[in-house]
Parts: sequence; C-alpha cells; structure tokens
Amino acid sequence: MAKNIFIAATSQNCGKTTTSIGLMHLAQKKYRRVGFIKPLGPKPVKFNRCTVDKDAALIAQVFDMEKDLRLMSPVVVYPDTTRMVVDGEISPDELHERIILAYTELEKKCDFIIIEGSGHPGVGSILKTSNACIARMLNAPVLMVTGAVWEMSLIISVWAWPCLRKKGSK
Ligand SMILES: Nc1ncnc2c1ncn2[C@@H]1O[C@H](COP(=O)(O)OP(=O)(O)OP(=O)(O)O)[C@@H](O)[C@H]1O
Ligand SMILES: [Mg+2]
Repeated sequence: MAKNIFIAATSQNCGKTTTSIGLMHLAQKKYRRVGFIKPLGPKPVKFNRCTVDKDAALIAQVFDMEKDLRLMSPVVVYPDTTRMVVDGEISPDELHERIILAYTELEKKCDFIIIEGSGHPGVGSILKTSNACIARMLNAPVLMVTGAVWEMSLIISVWAWPCLRKKGSK
C-alpha cells in the first residue's frame, strides 16, 4: 500500500499546489514512484483533449505524468455539478466511487501519493465530498497550509468535527 499525504488549506490560493510541487520534488528523492491526485477538481481546463482540474494538469506537465492524468483528476466540478447533486441527478456516492477507483489504480503504480485538496475547507461540502471527507476516505494524514491565526477557528469548526466523527458514519 502506498504512503500518502493530503494537502489541505484554510483558504483558496493559500499554496496547496506550491506545497505539492515542493513535496513532489522531495518525495521523488526518497520514493521511486510518486503519484499525485486532485480528487475533486473545481477548476476545469482542457489538456491533451481531456477536461481535468488545472492543478492536476500542471503537475502532470511539470513531472511528466500525462499518461496518468485521468486518474489524477477523477472528479471535475463543472458550473452545473452542484445543482445536479442537489437535484439528485448525481449522487455523492458516485463521486466517492470515482475517487476511490482512481486512487486505487494510482496506488498500484505508486509508493507515495500526494493528494491535493480543493480550495478552502468548505469546498465540496454540498457534494458531501469535502476535503475532510476525502482525507478520511483515503486514510491520509493531513498537512494544513494556513495563512493566519484567526483561520484556526475555521479549521476547528470544519475539520475537527468530521475527523472526530466515528469512522464510517456519514
Ligand atoms: N505562476 C505564478 N506566478 C505568480 N504567482 C502565482 C503563480 N501561480 C500561483 N501563484 C500565486 O501563488 C499563491 C499560491 O498558489 P497555489 O496555486 O499554490 O494555491 P492553491 O492553494 O493551490 O490554490 P487553489 O485553491 O486554486 O488550488 C497564490 O496567491 C497564487 O495566486
Ligand atoms: Mg491548487
């Protein structure tokens, strides 16, 4: 089983991708096969005729991992995705399944996997696919990139509660 780490943050543009790039570089010195996944991608871009999250596309390009790009961005959030989940057209379970399937595939090829969370801790909550939920699902320790002390209250309210809840509960 591959080791992993989940990079989360207290806000958008906080430095998750910057941190992931640094960690990718360091991890490649220690592990032979290092992977990256952005499970929930809120910023779709076209890359090599696929629509994937912009951070997954960036990492794939920088670290020459284009062949795994689809696994690196299993769920892309389009402008109408949230409405479709709220209306019951897409179920959160389906999103979870896509994330787990991609991660499991990636895990077969990797010794270490860097998982980048999305935006701030609230992102994905309506989809029942928040950063806390994904970190727990993939059994990953969390590295929190943070900007200011006041943001700790946000961490406690949005992260601590889901993480402390009994494993397996929704
Ligand atoms: N090429 C660049 N040149 C200058 N500044 C940049 C560049 N790329 C990112 N930044 C800035 O660096 C900071 C960190 O960006 P980064 O992409 O690491 O954040 P992030 O937490 O991954 O964002 P997101 O929530 O969109 O995933 C941001 O303020 C961003 O605007
Ligand atoms: Mg990012």
